[in-house]
Amino acid sequence: MIPKSCKRLAEVDFPIAVVSKHSAREKSIRHGHPSTLHLWWARRPLAACRAMLLGLLLPDPCDPHCPKDFKQNARKTLTPILGVRAGDAGLRKGLLDFIGEFANWDNANDRNYVDAARELVKAAHPEETPLVVDPFAGGGSIPLEALRLGCEAFASDLNPVACLILKVMLEDIPRHGPKLAEELRRVGKEIKEQAEKELAEFYPEDDDGARPIAYLWARTVRCESPNCGAEIPLMRSFWLCKKPKRKRALRYSVVRPKGEPPRVEFEVFEPKSDKEVPEGTVSRARATCVCCGSVLTPDRVRAQLAAQRGGADAIFDGKGNRIGGARMTAVVTLKPGERGRHYRLPNQADYKAVWKAQKHLQKILDEWEQGGKQGLCPVPDEPTPTGGGSGAGRAFSVQKYGMMQWADLFTARQKVALGELVRVRPEATLLSEPYALVIGRLADGSSSLTRWQTGAEKISNNYSRQALPIVWDFTEPNLFGEATRSLSSMFEWVAEYAQKQYTASLSGQVQQADACDCGLPSESVAVWFTDPPYYDAIPYSDLSDFFYVWLKRTIPNHQLLRDPFDPGNPLVPKEREAVQDETKVFNGRSKDRAFFEERMEKAFAEGRRILKEDAVGSVVFAHKTTEGWEALLSGMIRGGWTITGSWPIATEMASRLRAMESAALATSVHLVCRPRPEDAPVGDWADVLRELPKKVGDWMERLQAEHVRGADLVFACIGPALEIFSKYSKVETPEGREVPLAEFLLKVWEVVGRMALEQVLGTAEAKARNGAAGALEEDARLTALFLWTLQSTNGEVGQASSLSDGEEADEENIEGEETGKMPVPQGKARGFSLAFDVARRFAQPLGIDLPRWEGRIIKTEKGVVRLLPVSERAKQLFGSEGTKTVAERFEKDSRDVERFLFAEMEEEPAPKVRGRGKRSKTTVDPSALNREGRGEATTLDRVHAAMLLQSSGQANALRALIESEQDRGPDFVRLANALSALYPAGSEEKRLVDAMLLAVRR
Ligand SMILES: C[S@@+](CC[C@H](N)C(=O)[O-])C[C@H]1O[C@@H](n2cnc3c(N)ncnc32)[C@H](O)[C@@H]1O
Ligand SMILES: [Zn+2]
Repeated sequence: MIPKSCKRLAEVDFPIAVVSKHSAREKSIRHGHPSTLHLWWARRPLAACRAMLLGLLLPDPCDPHCPKDFKQNARKTLTPILGVRAGDAGLRKGLLDFIGEFANWDNANDRNYVDAARELVKAAHPEETPLVVDPFAGGGSIPLEALRLGCEAFASDLNPVACLILKVMLEDIPRHGPKLAEELRRVGKEIKEQAEKELAEFYPEDDDGARPIAYLWARTVRCESPNCGAEIPLMRSFWLCKKPKRKRALRYSVVRPKGEPPRVEFEVFEPKSDKEVPEGTVSRARATCVCCGSVLTPDRVRAQLAAQRGGADAIFDGKGNRIGGARMTAVVTLKPGERGRHYRLPNQADYKAVWKAQKHLQKILDEWEQGGKQGLCPVPDEPTPTGGGSGAGRAFSVQKYGMMQWADLFTARQKVALGELVRVRPEATLLSEPYALVIGRLADGSSSLTRWQTGAEKISNNYSRQALPIVWDFTEPNLFGEATRSLSSMFEWVAEYAQKQYTASLSGQVQQADACDCGLPSESVAVWFTDPPYYDAIPYSDLSDFFYVWLKRTIPNHQLLRDPFDPGNPLVPKEREAVQDETKVFNGRSKDRAFFEERMEKAFAEGRRILKEDAVGSVVFAHKTTEGWEALLSGMIRGGWTITGSWPIATEMASRLRAMESAALATSVHLVCRPRPEDAPVGDWADVLRELPKKVGDWMERLQAEHVRGADLVFACIGPALEIFSKYSKVETPEGREVPLAEFLLKVWEVVGRMALEQVLGTAEAKARNGAAGALEEDARLTALFLWTLQSTNGEVGQASSLSDGEEADEENIEGEETGKMPVPQGKARGFSLAFDVARRFAQPLGIDLPRWEGRIIKTEKGVVRLLPVSERAKQLFGSEGTKTVAERFEKDSRDVERFLFAEMEEEPAPKVRGRGKRSKTTVDPSALNREGRGEATTLDRVHAAMLLQSSGQANALRALIESEQDRGPDFVRLANALSALYPAGSEEKRLVDAMLLAVRR
């Protein structure tokens, strides 16, 4: 047994950089990874879980209480693999190196590594196999790794879909992996043949033997202009294939028959340049009629689609002629003996197949109704999420478009096909659960919210993000097309996973349970390691209903597919779900921040209850608002834990981050914790404050050496700070007032912000609030802090959003990605953004008054603060005369910059400065402009002015400006250099400031 007083490895050190590298890389690994078994949102990288688990399970050899036997055995185990230096420190280093190397995906199934890891765990826990518990297990990364390390694993989740995935991963596959894979392939073939026969008439081949693999559709609305009435196909893009060497697109002509509304006709063509491809007809739910040019407002677009229940189905007359609804725009085919995908216009036969599918579906539904609606409706008639609010619910807007039931997300043909596959499910119990996952996978690639990826020529899945944004022009796969999203490929993914994962051959235990009441006996657990929901970032239960409605039809009455707390609930349990989402209620109360905190507290208290005396815990968390962090931490502390270690691990490749100019987190923080002793002392606030800067300072240094930067660095400092605070039962001021966590965290943000400023600008600025002399002004400090926070850990921050072709240019401004990123205002607004909450937490204690800079260097909208790009400041700085005129005047007389900057201030004391973004009509706070007399230009204004002169090629004026600034003092160059280091590589700002600096006299 490892004595309680002995530190675990993860409480003293951790190979942050190596594990981060392997974690980030894992995202691009496909074969054999759990993500290929079934989708779950925000799965933790296995590399991070594996490494962290080892760090938690193994004692630190340098600790005086470390068992001797462990040291001996560990040395013996490690030596053949990587050679270990003498002494305890040598062994510690050996263990850390091993953890780093084992995090590599390529070694994860290597027998040598797996066996060595298991031996190490055994050496640390010779008496009994440690039990690892994860009560928020989700997609199962943590328990899967626990099994790999030879531990016992207990995984629970409230969500039935998660539980089914866990069951297959932790029970079915470890027991029957290879057999399961083989059976799945065999039965898969049979089922495919059978279903293909049944459904053949709905997926006809072309006359020339070509086989359609995907049908491209556009939802349509009618132009409401009085003399038009044309049908508007809603097309975000007319591109079909956009490969470097192969380009295909659609273009249209307008036919104007007498006495009828005009009509749009398509043609497939090979564009020579981008310009030949027409602009999309819809953007942000605003549709443009290509026949008359009039615009249909979002309200009308939504109303018209709502009248068609979303509009994914074509509408036919009694004879099968299409008269409205969704319009097929193109069909993608494969031709025997020919390479590549072909694109053609739809024909009568294509529509006829759809019409038949609709009639077939009607027949099925009629039969069900006539039979007295026995059992479940053949198509998912359960309601879709209402969505909305400012919390997790913002991921959903389907109801705005009339998709009120889950069935409305699918075309009739998709419903028929999925329904048929549900019906022909395999008999064997061994296959029932994996088969359900095949159906889930299939549904994910087969809804009307999938897109044609013009680069890869594939179909994206329904959940390419953690949200369900409307897709105007969607794609329908041919399930038997042996290409993208086909039935065979779905079987193969699951079978392949079953085969590959099998190496981790111990089986775990899965249970559906609320983390606040997990049902395990007290003092039974060696490691409690979990990854709780990220506050408001992911609406798991609503998202998973999409799968649940199909799964429960595939394996009816499965013991995991139910709501144990409300048997009448047709969907997954919601009430007890820990999430911040004000559109949801618990005990009649809306799920606000207090609710989330309370859930966390209960779950942490429950975790503490089941821990053995010598056990450790760990919690993964990633959230980019301080609010999310505060809610988690307060739950943790109130639940009786103290933090003893903290390691940020990068889990995202920078390129995957959606809004790269916002402070999207690339890392998640792994907090190591222990139960707080019942007799923990009361802390003295003054002591805590004294300890804080040193602790944070040392930590920032270490993390920077490991390339952790910006917002990631900020949140990674919480752990060490909390080590100080959470070791006390409470912290009090000399007057006996208990200091709340929130107050402590304010101090933490202040210390971090101050140290950041000190690094980027120097000591004077960091002390500026206390009136330090020689400091740069407030706007420079705000800008520097802002840019510093934006730096991202894993690679460079990119320039303002250049969305990849169609992938993410969503119509709805919906939250994406895993770590709770803020929606970045879209449209024309450019610049770098931070959550308002984060900007405020930093600015305030450093004496920066945000409102004062509103409209001058920042703009706040919808909870997001945007740093104005320099280009947007031109009018402010140079007035309406423009850069050129000012530059000319300035060249003649360069003595007084003030006369030229803010020139318009003279005539009009409070100029209205208009940004380019359409929602940004902010007025500059006059006090910011003329607080100390007219046109007071700050050093930042001067640097920006120089950048603008550089940008418009006013070399002479620029030289004159720089010279006069250099004569004034060192501040101008000092700030310009700091900005050069802070502006993201590749950004326009960086280019300008660097080019401008070339003109500086050395
Ligand atoms: C961040 S995810 C876990 C992801 C997991 N670590 C993985 O790698 O896939 C959080 C999980 O908590 C679950 N959850 C939310 N509230 C819960 C509750 N009260 N009890 C148990 N699980 C809950 C969600 O269903 C979700 O699967
Ligand atoms: Zn029109």
